[in-house]
Amino acid sequence: MMTVRLDKNKHDRHYFDCGVKPLNNYLRVMASQQSQKDNTRTFVLEDSSQPERVIGYYTLTMTPIDLGALPDKLQKKHQNASSGGLIARLAVDKRYAKQGYGEWLLIDALNRLLQASETVAFPVVIVDAKDGALGFYEKFGFTPFIDSTNKLFLTIADIRASISD
Ligand SMILES: CC(C)(COP(=O)(O)OP(=O)(O)OC[C@H]1O[C@@H](n2cnc3c(N)ncnc32)[C@H](O)[C@@H]1OP(=O)(O)O)[C@@H](O)C(=O)NCCC(=O)NCCS
Repeated sequence: MMTVRLDKNKHDRHYFDCGVKPLNNYLRVMASQQSQKDNTRTFVLEDSSQPERVIGYYTLTMTPIDLGALPDKLQKKHQNASSGGLIARLAVDKRYAKQGYGEWLLIDALNRLLQASETVAFPVVIVDAKDGALGFYEKFGFTPFIDSTNKLFLTIADIRASISD
């Protein structure tokens, strides 16, 4: 399996339904436009038997780090850093849910961000866990920021260590 860049001429963005309207709409309306403007990148996992069908997608970009909301030790270590990688959206179509695709997409997104960080260094990956997905991200080692229940982070150092295990 591999993810590819969203292609509005190939992928049936209207078929996709993860059950969360803003996430469906983002894929339908915004994802391609935002990528053209170099604001975000959206990657999709195609159904191999019908490649126009999107099993799931994620969107990556950068975001400022709220250093004050990190644990003390990390605040000190990263005091000169300003940006983190952001998994801005991640969703799996309801018809493909609970088959491990969400986990696979998350690991794929982390791998891409780890690779990006080798060129343009940043110390953390951040996610905004909407709509009951907090437990999903915590399961994979993300920690909530001190001042926020929905925003979580994972350090690049931890991602690197878990991938080299
Ligand atoms: C959250 C989501 C991506 C999970 O996708 P999925 O393909 O169904 O998940 P997986 O089958 O890969 O599940 C992997 C593991 O995470 C767990 N998990 C899945 N969704 C979870 C949730 N919302 N909370 C806690 N754990 C969750 C599963 O139980 C599974 O654990 P197991 O390996 O111990 O059985 C999917 O339900 C979705 O798209 N939801 C709507 C959009 C959304 O909330 N996106 C995230 C916020 S931007």
